[in-house]
Amino acid sequence: MYEKRIAIIGGTGKVGKFIAETALERGFAVRMLVRNPDRIQKRQDSMELIVGDALDAESIRETIRNCDVVINAFGQPPKADPSYSEVTQLILVSMKDHGIQRYIGVTGGSLTLDGDQKSFINRLGAKLFEVFFAKMMIDKRKEHDILKQSDLDWTLVRLPFVVEGSEKGDIRENLIDMPGSKITNGDIAHFLVGQIDEKIYYRQTPFIAGK
Ligand SMILES: NC(=O)c1ccc[n+]([C@@H]2O[C@H](COP(=O)([O-])OP(=O)(O)OC[C@H]3O[C@@H](n4cnc5c(N)ncnc54)[C@H](OP(=O)(O)O)[C@@H]3O)[C@@H](O)[C@H]2O)c1
Repeated sequence: MYEKRIAIIGGTGKVGKFIAETALERGFAVRMLVRNPDRIQKRQDSMELIVGDALDAESIRETIRNCDVVINAFGQPPKADPSYSEVTQLILVSMKDHGIQRYIGVTGGSLTLDGDQKSFINRLGAKLFEVFFAKMMIDKRKEHDILKQSDLDWTLVRLPFVVEGSEKGDIRENLIDMPGSKITNGDIAHFLVGQIDEKIYYRQTPFIAGK
């Protein structure tokens, strides 16, 4: 018998690809929204797949039904028309309808918020993103605003450059500045799944990085 059921959006992407595996190892059941099931390499009994689209409200509803937590690692190419806020809005509406309280999402470390005290180099990096990926950054800010206005137990994790790699377990966390330049997707999965029963970052937007 599993402890909780976790809905995962974006679980086949660079950031999200180890989330399901990590959650299953910790005894959770998993339901993933996928566009193409062939992208799932390891299938397991307590893993359900919903084939659909994150921009389709019915696919989101079907994915998160009977779940206890939603982890959102949806992503798009930086130059694409951004849909981050739209996907997050659809998820939050559906969570309300289903009475689900816990949301864990990811965004980029270049998102700067009130209260941040970024180093010069991180401020410069954020500025470059705002110039070169302006539409994406506006949409990512909108996504954060939507979360801030909700009364759910949300955590939005700010990530540095993501590299392929297994969990090393040496994650640095910081609420006001990015504590490193990169992180493995194995460590991201470890951190995100660890947040399922952790309240410390409720309604917060922490930065994480590998050592
Ligand atoms: N990669 C990095 O270095 C990095 C750094 C900092 C922050 N981030 C943030 O991390 C998040 C994820 O980025 P990523 O690099 O993992 O992106 P990615 O590799 O492109 O993966 C995107 C994920 O979203 C899914 N997806 C995209 N459009 C979808 C749709 N319409 N319906 C259902 N699923 C859809 C993809 O499914 P398919 O398998 O079907 O394509 C995939 O699972 C983004 O918020 C990004 O800004 C990434």
